Amino acid sequence: MARQEAMPLLTPFKAGRLELAHRVVLAPLTRCRSYGNVPQPHAAVYYSQRATRGGLLITEATGVSTTAQGYPETPGIWTPEQVEAWKPIVDAVHRKGALFFCQMWHVGRVSTNDFQPDGQAPISSTDKQISPDAEPGMVYSKPRRLRADEIPGIVDDFRRAARNAVEAGFDGVEIHGANGYLLEQFMKDGANDRDDEYGGSLENRCRFAVEVVDAVVGEVGAHRVGIRLSPFLDYMDCADSDPAALAGYMVRQLNKHDGFLYCHMVEPRMAVVDGRRQIPHRLLPFRKAFNGTFIAAGGYDREEGNKVVAEGYTDLVAYGRLFLANPDLPKRFELGAPLNKYDRSTFYTQDPVVGYTDYPFLDEENNGPAANDA
Ligand SMILES: Cc1cc2nc3c(=O)[nH]c(=O)nc-3n(C[C@H](O)[C@H](O)[C@H](O)COP(=O)(O)O)c2cc1C
Repeated sequence: MARQEAMPLLTPFKAGRLELAHRVVLAPLTRCRSYGNVPQPHAAVYYSQRATRGGLLITEATGVSTTAQGYPETPGIWTPEQVEAWKPIVDAVHRKGALFFCQMWHVGRVSTNDFQPDGQAPISSTDKQISPDAEPGMVYSKPRRLRADEIPGIVDDFRRAARNAVEAGFDGVEIHGANGYLLEQFMKDGANDRDDEYGGSLENRCRFAVEVVDAVVGEVGAHRVGIRLSPFLDYMDCADSDPAALAGYMVRQLNKHDGFLYCHMVEPRMAVVDGRRQIPHRLLPFRKAFNGTFIAAGGYDREEGNKVVAEGYTDLVAYGRLFLANPDLPKRFELGAPLNKYDRSTFYTQDPVVGYTDYPFLDEENNGPAANDA
């Protein structure tokens, strides 16, 4: 009898020094349930539900400082109290045999004065406000343009966050350089209107992000650092006129660090082709140019994930909404089992259970209570 081939998503992979048992990564997902910016015990339940032996999980975006905030009840990693609160969550994930990276975040102008210390203006590369139609129903405050001499202080915030993440027990950190937040507000020419050494040319616009990469690598070692980039997206009024050049430039900067662990890139928005929504698959040139592990994200399901791993388009695939709603996603992929549907209305609500840890496992009887026992 022919031996049944393992599906590509479920084959092992060595990412730098990390031995992964499969390619199904938990994408970073903001969950807004860290009251007072302190991670809570229920996060240990949530993350350990999604942990598997040899799997890779990335945390929700986690603030690097008091000015990094823009959403209710998101976690931070800049105070000793936050570091202590992360420790049992990281332990719970490690007990299940998974690897855990902390996504380090600064929202920049995706914020309001209410989230800022002393009601100050949010900070950015620019003083241009995000237009009211960027996100229906949301009005972001007019930001204050950072002076060049303030930027080393923000770089230091990322450095401290990385050190804290390692102290909390994380296996590494992911620098959030995607989705219209502070690093992208510098990188993309649709937002950056500076005329100093942090604006204008591609090299100047990427200078801040590269300084963050260099600082974080210097602090915790290239083998513990990944970055998330979304060159093709235009979230929060952050678009670039030449996303391929931007992505290519950033990948070359990452390659300067021997052993830089991973580059996590988000696909362009889904395109409708012949009436079907399809992933545009525009990341191959960057995957080819990058020396480390490549993670692709954005719209993937079981079939598309298996296809891109089999084709060598990417090493790993990060799953957002499907993993949110299916704590046992790798298992369901293995069995070809039906998936729970996600409930968008509870994505960003603050309940410690609803829309968070209450999505059923395939076999509630055997896996549910045990998996909840974090
Ligand atoms: C509820 C929710 C929260 C998200 N939070 C983050 C985040 O904190 N950091 C980030 O980089 N992306 C975030 N994203 C984007 C996801 O990581 C992912 O790129 C996106 O959902 C597309 O992948 P998918 O089609 O597998 O869901 C979020 C998406 C959702 C739906």
